[in-house]
Amino acid sequence: MATALTLTGIGHAYLGRTVLDGVGLTLAAGEVVALVGPSGCGKSTLAHIAAGVVEPLRGRVERAYRRHGMVFQDPRLLPWATARDNIAYPLRLMRLPRAERRALAEAAAERAALDAADLDKYPVELSGGMRQRVAIARALAIDPDFVYFDEPFTALDVALKRRMQDLVIAASRALHFAALFITHDLMEAARVAHRVAVMDAHGRGIAGERAVPGTPGERGDGDLYRLVASFLADDPLFRHIHDVDERRAP
Ligand SMILES: Nc1ncnc2c1ncn2[C@@H]1O[C@H](COP(=O)(O)OP(=O)(O)O)[C@@H](O)[C@H]1O
Ligand SMILES: [Mg+2]
Repeated sequence: MATALTLTGIGHAYLGRTVLDGVGLTLAAGEVVALVGPSGCGKSTLAHIAAGVVEPLRGRVERAYRRHGMVFQDPRLLPWATARDNIAYPLRLMRLPRAERRALAEAAAERAALDAADLDKYPVELSGGMRQRVAIARALAIDPDFVYFDEPFTALDVALKRRMQDLVIAASRALHFAALFITHDLMEAARVAHRVAVMDAHGRGIAGERAVPGTPGERGDGDLYRLVASFLADDPLFRHIHDVDERRAP
């Protein structure tokens, strides 16, 4: 199968302190991989390296995808621009003509379940969930074949989180993008992903991986609850998943 992203022997340090060492991970085209691991283990750093935002100290990044979008925990919207203009912003950077920008932005907004009336609002007029929908629409508007999600729904309440996960699942199926979905919520990982990769608690590589049976969007809640319960109760790979090293900055 075609590869979307290959990370080989990735190592990184901040101010001389090693945060990643020997991390390798491969994603196939169209594959959604959840990356989980305790807070501070280096997940965000790895995503930034994969996306080319941070240059790694060691290792190799091979991006076989065409174009990526990114969604973070904080929606990072331009406060002075409407939802529509926020969604269209990357299209402007791509120098697409105005009419085309508008059409693509509106199609992406629809995919993120935003109403036409919401598109004329400014970020300050939108709820946290709506702002995150705008951030998702902005990531999808560019027609990405790869999307980085870095704990996008951590700040949202449980019911809203589920709806947002369903939206990501539906979009990944319709648009066939591959995704690296960082989360520390195992239920979220099991719902959205084809595969769960667990990062070593100290960033020393991927500790292990588990395929999630079935297809995202088609799995029953009962099966998912049982799977996550067995991960937590019986699988040593997930033993340190909820550890928090409070000496580390968030
Ligand atoms: N820009 C930075 N400068 C210095 N240290 C950083 C920086 N970004 C992250 N760190 C540190 O690197 C480690 C890994 O951080 P991060 O990649 O954000 O982990 P995670 O996303 O798994 O919580 C943490 O100890 C964090 O404090
Ligand atoms: Mg992080």
